[in-house]
Amino acid sequence: MPETADHRHHLLALEGLAGDELVSLLDQARRFHTAAGSDPPTSLLAGRAVANLFFEDSTRTRCSFTIAAKRLGALTIDLTGAGSSLSKGESLLDTARTIEAMGIDVMVIRSRACGTPAMIADAVRCAVINAGDGRHEHPTQGLLDLYTLRECWGDFAGRTIAIVGDIANSRVARSNIHGLTTLGTEVLLVGPPALVPRSLERIALGPGRVSVSHDLDAVLPRVDAIMMLRVQFERLVGGAIADDYRALYGLTAQRAERLRPDVPVLHPGPMNRGVEIDSEVADDPQRSVILRQVANGVALRMAVLARSVGAS
Ligand code: CP
Repeated sequence: MPETADHRHHLLALEGLAGDELVSLLDQARRFHTAAGSDPPTSLLAGRAVANLFFEDSTRTRCSFTIAAKRLGALTIDLTGAGSSLSKGESLLDTARTIEAMGIDVMVIRSRACGTPAMIADAVRCAVINAGDGRHEHPTQGLLDLYTLRECWGDFAGRTIAIVGDIANSRVARSNIHGLTTLGTEVLLVGPPALVPRSLERIALGPGRVSVSHDLDAVLPRVDAIMMLRVQFERLVGGAIADDYRALYGLTAQRAERLRPDVPVLHPGPMNRGVEIDSEVADDPQRSVILRQVANGVALRMAVLARSVGAS
């Protein structure tokens, strides 16, 4: 987490973050979550300004960053591509510098292109948080998934998770792989060969191992958690999704019965119900932690925002 001269911390990726930095953010989120109720307001960021610059659509990330910033007492502004001067040809860098000139302390940036938050971080003086850049990373989603898994598991070492679906196109998978393996969890990447190439086994440096399987039914009995990913129709070129995706890789109600009863089901959302996950599984109150992930995202993003300005 690079630190600038005035103690501002960017969060551009989970790749390269040490285990103690990850745990420190999870601990801080837990303090926000449990202090006198769920995510109570504080004045930690009073007098600060947070800009949400979302150049790609979002529901969960954008709204939870806004709620998190307001619960910390910050002033917030929101900008999307539509309705801004980007539509008149202004560049992303000029847009970021213009917003910063209004007195912004933290920029939260979502972009279709990999590397946009890092490029902007090099050009501005405020802290920059990556809210998802192309296929690269989605670090706050990865952190809220770690937070949710720690609630379920207690600890990460010795656990095994299956991440199932369109791994090649998934920034959520990439952030989870880096965070989970750093904390000692074994990650099984599961899906069709075109979306889950063997080369992904070399993506992380451990200590947790990464392995690839193209057989979901074979891995179900041995996992401690399963994370289903959205088939990203908007990123697939040439309609490469096979007709039998659901039959081979969907978490159907029948497949879910083969998981141990204590195994949580995660999904970062938005879901394609009936494609990668059946409604019976997504809405199962015993197994599904999908809405808990969303709820946990607020406290986690409070922790990331506080850290970004050195206020935690
Ligand atoms: N999980 C996630 O990033 O969802 P949004 O696209 O709705 O923010």
